[in-house]
Amino acid sequence: MGYNGGMQTPITVFAIAGSLRAASLNLALLRAITQLAPAEFTIRIDTGLGHLPLFNPDLDADSLPAVTAMRDAILAADVLMLASPEYAHGVSGPMKNALDWMVSNTSFIDKPLVLLNTSPRATHAQAALRETVLTMSARLIDDACISLPLLGSGLDAEGIAAHPGLRQDLLTMLQRIKLFL
Ligand SMILES: Cc1cc2nc3c(=O)[nH]c(=O)nc-3n(C[C@H](O)[C@H](O)[C@H](O)COP(=O)(O)O)c2cc1C
Repeated sequence: MGYNGGMQTPITVFAIAGSLRAASLNLALLRAITQLAPAEFTIRIDTGLGHLPLFNPDLDADSLPAVTAMRDAILAADVLMLASPEYAHGVSGPMKNALDWMVSNTSFIDKPLVLLNTSPRATHAQAALRETVLTMSARLIDDACISLPLLGSGLDAEGIAAHPGLRQDLLTMLQRIKLFL
């Protein structure tokens, strides 16, 4: 590795929570990660999921600002993080809608990607998400994908970031991303 004056290479992350709920645990988890991430990480949390139209292949994705904004944010990031709730053993509708919009552009191809799960019980959605993103040719960072027992914990973003065990799990996750890149 070359000498770079002690500066660490910046790592940019784009993170999407698959819930539109104001008190979403998935969003809280992403916020916690932004709070505890080492300075070399720049993490941007998506705010556009709820503005995407329902997926319709007849529409011209390039002329839909919400679609191109999400596509460009993913393309610009070194890593994509997805955190989706499980609804009735499936991926949330808003998250699947976003993924379907991204199929026909190149944003997922070879994109390093991490799946985060706020409930170890929610195995169906994680498995389905995994299958979908691999089908979309993302590069899953397997050892950085984690399920944390947040459901029912009553923790918000600050509480997650301050919890010693969760904090350590999330720092390990970020370290594994760094090693992967
Ligand atoms: C309509 C609905 C269906 C759900 N189905 C499941 C399920 O099948 N499996 C599960 O583990 N949790 C299920 N849950 C619980 C949610 O995954 C959980 O509340 C999660 O925290 C929601 O994500 P959020 O906090 O980011 O909004 C369901 C919740 C709702 C509202």
